[in-house]
Amino acid sequence: MDDTTKEAPRRKVRPARAALDTAAAAAGVPVPPAAGIPTPPGADPGPGPVDGGLLDPTGQGDDRAAEAALRPRTLDEYIGQDRMKANLRVFIRAARERGEPLDHVLLYGPPGLGKTTVAHILAGEMGTPLRSTSGPAIERAGDLAAILTNLEGTGILFIDEIHRLHPALEEILYQAMEDFRIDIIIGQGPGARTVKIELPRFTLVGATTRMGLLTGPLRDRFGIVHHLDFYPVEDLVRIVRRSAGLLGVPIDDGGAAAIGRRARGTPRIANRLLRRVRDFAQVEADGMITGAVADRHLECLEVDLYGLDRLDRQILLIIHEKFDGGPVGLATIAAALGEEADTIEEIYEPYLMQIGFLDRTSRGRRVTPRALEHLKLSPGGRTRDGLFRES
Ligand code: ADE
Repeated sequence: MDDTTKEAPRRKVRPARAALDTAAAAAGVPVPPAAGIPTPPGADPGPGPVDGGLLDPTGQGDDRAAEAALRPRTLDEYIGQDRMKANLRVFIRAARERGEPLDHVLLYGPPGLGKTTVAHILAGEMGTPLRSTSGPAIERAGDLAAILTNLEGTGILFIDEIHRLHPALEEILYQAMEDFRIDIIIGQGPGARTVKIELPRFTLVGATTRMGLLTGPLRDRFGIVHHLDFYPVEDLVRIVRRSAGLLGVPIDDGGAAAIGRRARGTPRIANRLLRRVRDFAQVEADGMITGAVADRHLECLEVDLYGLDRLDRQILLIIHEKFDGGPVGLATIAAALGEEADTIEEIYEPYLMQIGFLDRTSRGRRVTPRALEHLKLSPGGRTRDGLFRES
């Protein structure tokens, strides 16, 4: 997803952190200042690499700075997810009126839909600082303790990919969320002792693409839970128009529609396609993004009318050609394509199901007649010309 561990600028050491430092120093145990990197044993390693390409919703690769520049800063600027916005408005207002921090918030849904953006907006609307990290970046109890004790009062801690937090660390987090306190064991063996550390009241905003991997006790400690849905094309068109305005790129209705339609329900992809088409429009047209300019260049980039790329088509084709349209298990599809099952399940399948091209049944995956029609395939497990085509 779209955020790496970010350290807030260091300010003065806060009392909770000082307590941890003192206890650790007395026991001769170093407490790390920030999160580490490798995925600890026992934690979910997450999906394998996708190509970081044009339609990659995970946002790895090129465009963090560009994306941040287009990010809406307030709920009013944020387009789409109307039900979530309406609810958050009420919760924010109520918390502000009571002078309390917001309840803990869990945001879940496919990558690229704006979970990180919402975390930033919540901090902005509550007028509090945001500290941002991710599940796999928190390696040891000391890392988590250091982050929690460094939080400023009523601040927001954003943990992206929270389902990848090491299970042993979840317990520390429960206690922090519920009691605003942590018990840390310092030292080892007979000299080990428990230090209780009071934390400032804070709001945890957790984000996950895999709600099912969160343990029940962790899930239950979030008072506000929202699913982010794929965006309808009309919302994506509005997002493209807004972003084009911010970038100073002329675009007409046809251009915004052509990009919005191919964006796989995902603002991150819409903004990326916009930037690519802008380059083409600048170099090969007169700078204006029209429907014809966008269509021509997105075709050159092998993005079809539904925003499908080569791997989407291969997934559908292989089920159709090799497995008679399904049902076939995910592991079998992944092996046949030489791709990681997690990548297919987390990145590709949600959108293919959303547009009605793939069915997930208890017996496996099936291609739908709608997908066959789009790919110009005849039912019965063969392409119309009887050949398995690569793209
Ligand atoms: N840019 C990316 N996501 C957006 C959204 N939901 N609204 C407005 N601009 C965006």
